[in-house]
Amino acid sequence: MSGESVKVAVRVRPFNQREMDRKATSIIKMQGSMTMIHNPETPKEEPKKFSFDYSYWSHDGFVTNSDGVMEPTGGSPYASQRMVFDDLGQGVLNNAFEGYNCSLFAYGQTGSGKSYSMVGYGPNRGIVPITCDELFKTMQTNNDGSVRYEVTFSMLEIYNEQVRDLLSKDNPKGGLQVRQNPKLGMFYVENLKKVPVGSYTEIEKRMEQGTSSRTVASTNMNATSSRAHTVVTITFDQIIKNQMGSETKKSSVMNLVDLAGSERADSTGATGDRLKEGANINKSLSALGNVISALADLSMGKKKVMVPYRDSVLTKLLQNALGGNSKTIMIAALSPADINFDETLGTLRYADRAKKIKNQAVINENPMDKLIRELKEENDRLKNQLSGGIDMTANPQMTPEELAKMRQKMEEEIRAQLMANQEMLNDNAQNWDEKLSAARTETDAMAQEENREHSRRNKDAHLVNLNEDPMLSGVLFHFLQGEKTTFGRKDASPPPNICLTGLSIQKQHAVIINRKGEIEIEPASQGAKIKVNGMPLTGKVTLNHQDRVLFGSNHLYVFINPAKPQAPKDTPKEITYEFAQKEIAQAKGFTTGTGAGLTKEQQVAQEQILEILPMVSEVNAISEELNKQKSFEVVLISAAAQEGSGKGQGTQVMVKMKNLLNGNTWLWERGKFIDRRYIIQEMYQQYLDGEEVFNRSREEDPFWEPTEDVLVGTASVFLQSLSYALDFDDRLSITDYKGLEEGHLIVNITPCNQAGKSLDEDSFVDEPSELLGRPYHFKVSVRSAEIHKSRFSKGVLVKYKVPIVHDKEYTETKWVTGSLSPEFNHSRVIGIDKIKQEHLDFFDVGCITFCVYGKQEDIEGDPKLAKLTTKELRKMEQISTVAENGRRGTIFSQEPLLADQAHLKTEIVLMQRKYERLLQKERRMIQLCDEWSKKPTEEQEFAPFFRSVSAVANSTGTRLKTRVQLLNQVLKAQKAVREKRVTPQVTNSNSNTSEQPMSNGKTGDGDTVSLFVFGEEEGSLAAEAEKHNGIVPRERVANHHFPIETLVSQKKQAEAQAQGHHNHGTVTNGGGKPKEGSSTCTIM
Ligand SMILES: Nc1ncnc2c1ncn2[C@@H]1O[C@H](COP(=O)(O)OP(=O)(O)OP(=O)(O)O)[C@@H](O)[C@H]1O
Ligand SMILES: [Mg+2]
Repeated sequence: MSGESVKVAVRVRPFNQREMDRKATSIIKMQGSMTMIHNPETPKEEPKKFSFDYSYWSHDGFVTNSDGVMEPTGGSPYASQRMVFDDLGQGVLNNAFEGYNCSLFAYGQTGSGKSYSMVGYGPNRGIVPITCDELFKTMQTNNDGSVRYEVTFSMLEIYNEQVRDLLSKDNPKGGLQVRQNPKLGMFYVENLKKVPVGSYTEIEKRMEQGTSSRTVASTNMNATSSRAHTVVTITFDQIIKNQMGSETKKSSVMNLVDLAGSERADSTGATGDRLKEGANINKSLSALGNVISALADLSMGKKKVMVPYRDSVLTKLLQNALGGNSKTIMIAALSPADINFDETLGTLRYADRAKKIKNQAVINENPMDKLIRELKEENDRLKNQLSGGIDMTANPQMTPEELAKMRQKMEEEIRAQLMANQEMLNDNAQNWDEKLSAARTETDAMAQEENREHSRRNKDAHLVNLNEDPMLSGVLFHFLQGEKTTFGRKDASPPPNICLTGLSIQKQHAVIINRKGEIEIEPASQGAKIKVNGMPLTGKVTLNHQDRVLFGSNHLYVFINPAKPQAPKDTPKEITYEFAQKEIAQAKGFTTGTGAGLTKEQQVAQEQILEILPMVSEVNAISEELNKQKSFEVVLISAAAQEGSGKGQGTQVMVKMKNLLNGNTWLWERGKFIDRRYIIQEMYQQYLDGEEVFNRSREEDPFWEPTEDVLVGTASVFLQSLSYALDFDDRLSITDYKGLEEGHLIVNITPCNQAGKSLDEDSFVDEPSELLGRPYHFKVSVRSAEIHKSRFSKGVLVKYKVPIVHDKEYTETKWVTGSLSPEFNHSRVIGIDKIKQEHLDFFDVGCITFCVYGKQEDIEGDPKLAKLTTKELRKMEQISTVAENGRRGTIFSQEPLLADQAHLKTEIVLMQRKYERLLQKERRMIQLCDEWSKKPTEEQEFAPFFRSVSAVANSTGTRLKTRVQLLNQVLKAQKAVREKRVTPQVTNSNSNTSEQPMSNGKTGDGDTVSLFVFGEEEGSLAAEAEKHNGIVPRERVANHHFPIETLVSQKKQAEAQAQGHHNHGTVTNGGGKPKEGSSTCTIM
């Protein structure tokens, strides 16, 4: 496919405050037009490389000059706004003058810098304003009178597939219609306000108007949010008169698109919500991805690719920009922070695909007469069609109703087109001037109002809004009025001074009283939700400069008091939306760390909590308002409590929905909740629009969910005992996501043979490495449980996966109903062909997590409860939850603690077993010595005696192998004893290593031979025995085997004595004499 490729630029922003606080590291490097990204998880791996038309480094190497403009420091590669404009914006401008359509769009995750590049902040103006400014400057310098310029400006946002005109006060329900021009096939927005503009200032004012209208909508929660796509369209017509007096029109349409943050589309993509299909959330963004992919395929020569422009509003409007008649530039905004690796890589891949797209831009230049003639002809044709000539190539399968519907739709489109054409025909010079001057009157009024407001900001106390989108923060100003300023809904009587609309706003909501400069705020009616500095307001409090005030669930403001500009101590210099949200989260009991000491997962979880908490409040407020009898709560699910969802380790942020009538609960992944929230918002908007929302079928109700089994809690068993071929029996605590105990689970893990028969006692190994290379089986038995909460008597089941054999599916026990002490009697044999180190490592630290599920039934709740409103129910719920447990999750999970506990338990069992074994050995050795000493001297043969003692001493349980080893060792040792050869002492009990005594080449410091297990003392015993014809007094032997308690206390004693002494391994023997290198480890 020929044509010109879409130009792609990537730009990396500086770290934001949060990232700096938590000492984030950068994952992006740039070299020329190349951008490299490295995965922080695999630092040794080569970075991934991408090449683009431009790679802009705006991460560091800049200073902010006295005007607030960010500029590169000497020699730094920092790309300033001006530089980006020079490369990209200037091109747009040149193309516009030549008569090409131009499109510029910014893509990237939330907070990556799209708006910064497109619109800019304060003095750091972005490409759009600079381009507009330069457009008028160039027009002025170019104009010799032969050209008439006509510029219009329009601004819209797309949210939930609805188009809202940002320059118009009245948007129809359901948004503006997107229609297709029947002749050209192009899509356009019907009735979109196109404001004639005659200067850059007028554009600036209109942009402010648009931003302010976005902010109002976002704060009022009229089913819109800052997370919308914003499209600014500038039409630029040049009407050139030639010497003959005939006119030519060169026109260019510039589409400047600031897309909604991309990350949610990805994070929600994975959830299989049953309502997802119906949700329009980010439909536009995913459709854009599909369009780009299809176009990239086409340009690579793939045939028969359908480009799905029609799938979303955004792609319809960008049809020209992508693959059509337009010169297009995409800016991909990148976050440099390590925790955003996945999203940033996603953005780079997206950009990489986009650069393959080919467009066919043509100069739009036509003689005016021709244009007018064509428009007229077209109108005649359309009129004809209307009067009966519509060509309905009907699908034979269509019913007459469907046919009629289609006909009606087509008629509508034709009428709309007729009107649009007529408008163009009316656009003659005189008409244009009139329209421009009317628009100017409007802008002037806006400018005057703004000037007034501006001058008041420095003297009068006021509230200024905060929004999650920094672009929309500091846009709305509410000035206090006299002594008493009232806040509430506009239908209150008397009407409040300041009207707020939206969720949880009462008719009379709040009052701010100004008594000679002492300013106080209080709720104006019972139940009015207000928070000051994160804390719920119940009475009157003083408002200080820079205090944060939240009305209802969405109206967040900072109070500014120019008369007393002293903020309380600890107030940050600049109040951000994040700061205000953090303090709300903290007041709710969520711990929020400063970041530096948190793991990556914790940092991500923290960001997600702050993101999701306001949404949960909003959904709760809608639930109350629509009386949905559901309550929502943010919960943090620790890794142990996640049913091995493959989401990686670490705390996961989820939302719990609870049916307040019957107590049923559901746990939603963050993505699913965000999806649902969109649908809930949409439903609420329909309710506000007066549509019927209460008779929805449950399948279409976002608040409804089929009952599902609920995770009662999880219990983890650690597998250390398997390293020693020991079985492990335990009564594990079942803990819920908050770490609260929900019951107990009785499980058993037993090494066994292939048929599941438990191995006998002697299979126990002293050293896990002995298992290497051997086949191994163990049996997981889930015996029974004890469940605390009676509501789970409807049924309990346990599910688990065994990670070491890479289980894909869960193994489930049967459902046991009607009991809170369910008996599962479940067991499963797990086989490993050959034990490898990875298996041992897993035994050492890994665990099996048992997920205990309870059955829920969709029963009617208590009829008494049904009489209460959702608000009352939620209040009751809150009281009972506080009574039940005062705590909330913190993102510092107790997981390590639980794991430690389980580990310790296993270790104790292990030690007990070893201890028992040693006692057994000891008894056997005493017995052997006894028998030997009782023999007449002539029968006392040292060799067989020594063999049997050693055999016992070295017995480890893995009988065969150890016995063979033992025999070898014994023989070697005997030889050594006989030859009086000196070997270095072995102080380790490990029979494997003792097979080849560690030799450091030096002779030891005593004439001792280690008997592998009991060390020096036994060595000298053996030597003594040899010397005295094999006779050693029985007490001497018995003395060397202390009971463990004695040993431990002796060790402590010795440590106390050895304080300051460099050798901590010292243990005193019975005689109190320090004994170096004693083999205490044998016993432990
Ligand atoms: N190149 C840059 N230089 C300095 N600051 C930047 C740059 N890019 C972004 N920022 C800052 O990062 C923050 C987030 O940027 P911005 O609002 O542009 O993100 P966004 O991609 O538009 O996010 P959203 O999807 O939420 O609209 C802003 O405070 C902005 O000032
Ligand atoms: Mg933005």
